[in-house]
Amino acid sequence: MAKEKPLSVLFVASECFPLIKTGGLADVVGALPRALDAIGTNVTVFLPGFPDVLSGLTGTRTLAKIADLSGQPAKLIAGKTQTGLSVIALDAPHFFNIKGNPYLDASGQDRADNGQKFAAFSKIAADLAMGKIGRKTYDVLHAHDWQAGLCAAYLKAAGDTRVKTVITIHNLAFQGLFPKSLLGDLGLPADYFSNDGLEYWGKVSFLKAAIAFSDHITTVSPTYALEIQSDEGGMGFGGMLRAKAGTLSGILNGIDLDVWNPETDPEITHNFSAVNLAGKANNKQKLQKDLSLRPDKDALLFTVISRLTTQKGLDLLADMTDYIVSRGGQLAMLGSGDSAIEAAFLAAAKKHPTEISVTIGYNEPLAHRLQASADANFIPSRFEPCGLTQLCAMRYGTVPVVGRVGGLNDTVIDASPMAQSSGVATGVQFSPI
Ligand code: ADP
Ligand code: GLC
Repeated sequence: MAKEKPLSVLFVASECFPLIKTGGLADVVGALPRALDAIGTNVTVFLPGFPDVLSGLTGTRTLAKIADLSGQPAKLIAGKTQTGLSVIALDAPHFFNIKGNPYLDASGQDRADNGQKFAAFSKIAADLAMGKIGRKTYDVLHAHDWQAGLCAAYLKAAGDTRVKTVITIHNLAFQGLFPKSLLGDLGLPADYFSNDGLEYWGKVSFLKAAIAFSDHITTVSPTYALEIQSDEGGMGFGGMLRAKAGTLSGILNGIDLDVWNPETDPEITHNFSAVNLAGKANNKQKLQKDLSLRPDKDALLFTVISRLTTQKGLDLLADMTDYIVSRGGQLAMLGSGDSAIEAAFLAAAKKHPTEISVTIGYNEPLAHRLQASADANFIPSRFEPCGLTQLCAMRYGTVPVVGRVGGLNDTVIDASPMAQSSGVATGVQFSPI
């Protein structure tokens, strides 16, 4: 029998580890293609050509010179990541030659051209998948989050029915909402601006367009797939997602076991394994010293590695810091985001300088060191589509303490008396407020 041709899939996303990352989206887009490739699928990742993306690729070549939606010149650059992923980057400097957060400006506001740039990105992805650019066509276009939300609309507008489309919702809170005035820049049929298209309360929603026009919808855990079909968890899209229940699946995320491996992790001083935890105690000792925490191997050391937003429930934890310290616990936090939450933790660190350490910012090596050193990891999220830090924690022998929502519910086995007696508990769950 002739060997079946491997499925060719174009991932379309705005982030991909190790090139560009603000959160778990990047981890999944960096890891899932490698896992799919290993089972015989050919995945290419299409990314915006941010400076770190273009400089992080090896063996680059120009695939095509094109004009984007606005007529401005752009190039498609093909190359590989250090981890061996095939990437095509949209080198459109007028849109993507930016420093700092890819979506927010220096004052923390959405960048003014987000609508135009991610529409152009999605249109070019659709053209690439159909084979209008380059010689290759793809069987599946797999879009991730609102930044790639218009891909299915552009394929439909082009009359293409061959390329199958999937949208993965990594976080329904980010809906890609823009004023109606953006419509003129999109080049889509006017009647797509309707209740069963991309119109959302008089605005344009890129994510709604993806839900409306994609062949299949996935999200990142089974519990979140149910939550987003409710009025509360649906964040305005609940009814639409209930109507799409037949084409909606919750598929649990995973982590890259090579990137997160305490036996080989180059970021940590003392490597260790599940059967030899001695190195973990040494890492804790070193971290306490490096972060100027009181050296005490018996102090229960908690960590938080997170975006500091209300989603993550860290305002609740900020209120508990005195209590943690009064019980002999310590906290090492790494994160950035909401200035009020940052300020609350900085104040707690000032009050308890030998028990609480707060590092504001984004620091990949420190995230690894914290997981390798801490006893427990707090993730008190109000909602959590999947969450990856609890998976990294478990890989590093760090007990996740999590709100019982979304993917946290699906990945952590609560230490109930029953789970403890059968030896299957992996963490602690609590009911979020
Ligand atoms: P989300 O995508 O909602 O932010 P996830 O738990 O899915 O949450 O993924 C977060 C990812 O980002 C993890 O890999 C975590 O280690 C990483 N991360 C979060 N904040 C920081 C930070 N300040 N510095 C380094 N890594 C971080
Ligand atoms: C989002 C979610 C997070 C999820 C990640 C990767 O950022 O907030 O829960 O793990 O995407 O899917």
